[in-house]
Amino acid sequence: MLTPSAPARLVVLVSGAGTNLQALLDACADPAYGAEIVAVGADRDGVEGLARAERAGVATFVHRIADFDSRAAWDAALAASVAEHAPDLVVLAGFMKLVGADFLERFGGRTLNTHPALSPAFPGMRGPADALEYGVKVTGATLFVVDAGVDTGVIVAQTTVPVEDDDTAESLHDRIKVAERSMLVDVVGRLSREGFTVDGRRVRFGA
Ligand code: GAR
Repeated sequence: MLTPSAPARLVVLVSGAGTNLQALLDACADPAYGAEIVAVGADRDGVEGLARAERAGVATFVHRIADFDSRAAWDAALAASVAEHAPDLVVLAGFMKLVGADFLERFGGRTLNTHPALSPAFPGMRGPADALEYGVKVTGATLFVVDAGVDTGVIVAQTTVPVEDDDTAESLHDRIKVAERSMLVDVVGRLSREGFTVDGRRVRFGA
């Protein structure tokens, strides 16, 4: 069960362009949205997602796996930096690393991730390309509560996108991202304002 503070405190983790982060930053500019982004973290330097945070005056931190002796040490440092900002919710928005045991011990149950496919189909890094290669006619994006698996967590919301005959993996992913951003903003806002409970594999809004 999560009963957020008002406004809910969000830490967002990114690895790249950060268009999902930008959609959340824009939404948080309205006090009625019910959430504020208190920090943005990344696993690499120099990405546009970090620049978006800096332009918005949001604190940032970076932990690169290559700078640590082990994956577990990286995960512990990531979890410690997130904890410094006391988030109600952690949102992985294009974060291309799996979080580990330390992170899940602290933030399990309140860490969300968005994946560019309709789970449980096409988990992993190539969701749009795998959907296209399989020949599905509908795909989309899935917002889920992160667990120890790869895109296996409890599903919070999904949005669908048609596959067009002339799609490439890139054009399909671009179209998915439009729907994904809208879903992310809607659902993170609702989770922030209303809280949520997880019961088995079902998520219900409201504390
Ligand atoms: C999004 O489509 C997100 O679902 C995907 O990366 C994109 C990030 O876009 N994430 C994953 O594939 C995670 N495995 P953005 O950087 O423009 O928000």
